[in-house]
Amino acid sequence: METIDISGALGLIAMVVLTLNIVLGIMLSTAYKQTKYWQKMPTKWKAYKIIDIHNYTAYVALVIVFLHFIIIPLDPSSKFSFIHLMFPLNAPHQPYFVLLGVISFIALLLVVITTQKIIKKKLGTTTWRNFHVISYATGLLFIIHGLVMDPLLKDRPIDFLDPEKLLVQFCALILIAAFVYRWNYKTKSK
Ligand code: HEM
Repeated sequence: METIDISGALGLIAMVVLTLNIVLGIMLSTAYKQTKYWQKMPTKWKAYKIIDIHNYTAYVALVIVFLHFIIIPLDPSSKFSFIHLMFPLNAPHQPYFVLLGVISFIALLLVVITTQKIIKKKLGTTTWRNFHVISYATGLLFIIHGLVMDPLLKDRPIDFLDPEKLLVQFCALILIAAFVYRWNYKTKSK
């Protein structure tokens, strides 16, 4: 397996973990325990602490995303250097879509940092929540990034039927459904 294939696989894993993370976050913000779906769940499932899994998946995703991009310059055929990771608009391939990946990473980092107990306390609930809302935009950005980036870095057009790109589209559908659910909950509870 080439370094670039490993990077692509890590990107896909990070996307799945982040999708799960956002879905769990939406469950937490919509009183999931009161829904009929949750009440019908097997007792074993209900014993899991959603808040812990939500926090844990954010840390795991952060580490996986970091590995995803930090190894790209190690593959000479990628033509990426470490400088390109910091200045994505100079990247040798699909610079605008690499930029979306970088923005997603920074947004994820911001959300994780602002959720640390001391910082959260200093920010206060409203500001902390505003930072947390960034996650919705992050979801959109990493989906576009993952869908458009060519895993072989040959600037090929998107192959929507490629199994990896099908996985990206599946995550996109889950996120859209979760966002709609969140929106309906908000409008109904007004
Ligand atoms: C939340 C952050 C990110 C997520 C979830 C993510 C996810 C993904 C996904 C799913 C792919 C497509 C893999 C495939 O089709 O096989 C991909 C490709 C790519 N990403 Fe990211 N990415 C993120 C951040 C970044 C960052 C920060 C960079 C660079 C600084 C980056 C650079 C690339 C490049 C160059 C590719 C194409 C080559 C490859 O497949 O590795 N990504 N990413």
